[in-house]
Amino acid sequence: MLQIHRFYIIILWFLFQLFIEINCQISPYVLKERRGHTATLFDKKLYILGGFPLEEIGNEFFYIDFSVSFNTQNLKVNDLTNINTLSPHYNAGSAIGGTNNDTLFICGGLSNVKYATMELVNTFNPRSNSWSIPKIAGDKPFLVDCDMTTINYDIYILSALDVSDINILDTINLVWKKVNPIGTQNIGAASSSILLPDNKIIYIDSSNTGNLAEVYIYDTVNNNWSKKTTTGTIPPKKDGGSAVLGLDGKRIITFGGFVSATQDQLHELNLINFEWRIPKSSGSIPASRSHHKANVIGNYMVLSFGKYTF
Ligand SMILES: *[C@@H]1O[C@H](CO)[C@@H](O)[C@H](O)[C@H]1NC(C)=O
Ligand SMILES: *[C@@H]1O[C@H](CO)[C@@H](O)[C@H](O)[C@H]1NC(C)=O
Repeated sequence: MLQIHRFYIIILWFLFQLFIEINCQISPYVLKERRGHTATLFDKKLYILGGFPLEEIGNEFFYIDFSVSFNTQNLKVNDLTNINTLSPHYNAGSAIGGTNNDTLFICGGLSNVKYATMELVNTFNPRSNSWSIPKIAGDKPFLVDCDMTTINYDIYILSALDVSDINILDTINLVWKKVNPIGTQNIGAASSSILLPDNKIIYIDSSNTGNLAEVYIYDTVNNNWSKKTTTGTIPPKKDGGSAVLGLDGKRIITFGGFVSATQDQLHELNLINFEWRIPKSSGSIPASRSHHKANVIGNYMVLSFGKYTF
C-alpha cells in the first residue's frame, strides 16, 4: 500500500522563483511562463525547448539537472539557447530514440511566417550538444502537434490531423512507417499518450473536444484498438491537461487542463477497473494550468510551465 501512495508532485514554477531569487545577481536568465514547449528527459536532465508566445520565448533551450539529488537550493538550469538552431515554435512533440537511446527527436511544431520553416524532424545529441536534421526515408507524414511514445527505438505518433493511422518513426534505420490499426477510436483533437508496461499505449484526451469517460488503448503488438469506458469521478474535459503513468504501472495520474481551474486538477485512473478518483495529496496543490508538460523523474511527477495566469 505504501508503494501505491508514493508519488509526489513538485512544481517547477515555485522552484524557479526560488532559483531566480537566488541567482538573479549572477544570471540574467529569466524563466518565463510558456505553453506548448517540449520537456524531454534524458539522463535525468529535463530539456526544455520552445513554447508560446513565440516572440517572448524565441529560441530558448535549456536543461534542468535532476541527476544530482535535488532540492530548491541546488536546482540547476543550464542554458543552451546559444547553440539552438531551431526556429521559435510551439506544440512540437518530443521523444528519445536512436541507437543508444541518446537522441532527442523533436517533431512537428507550429510557428509563424516571421521565422524560417522548420524541418519536420530535428534531433539533438545531448552528449555532443549538437543539433542535426536527420535524413528519413519513407513517406513523410503530415504532422503538426505530435504526441510521441518510444517503444524499442520506434517512435509512435498519432496525428491529430489523421487519427485513423499511426505513424512510426524507426529511429535506428531512420524510416517512416504507417500502420492502420484494426478497430476505431474517437479521440479528440489532442491527447496524451502513455506507454503501459505491456507495450500498449493508452491515449487520454487532452483537448476540449474529447471525453474522459472513454479512454483508448492501442496494442502495438497486435495493431488493434480497444475502448475502455471509465467510471468513478470522471474528470471534466481537460484542454491541455497532462498525464503520466504511476510508479506502480497500474494507474494514470492526470493534472490540469483549462476547464479544471478548480481544486480538482489532480485525478487518477485505475488501470485495473478503469475507475477515476481524486487521489489524496499533501502539501499545497499547484495552480491549475494548461499546455504544461509532466515528466516522471525518480519518484516525482514534475510539471513544467504551462499557462497558469490569466
Ligand atoms: C533502449 O531502450 C529500449 C526500450 O525502449 C531498451 O529495450 C533497450 O535495451 C535500450 N537500449 C540501450 C542501448 O540502452
Ligand atoms: C487484438 O488482437 C489480439 C490478438 O489477435 C486479440 O487477442 C485481442 O482480443 C484484440 N483486441 C481487440 C480489442 O480486438
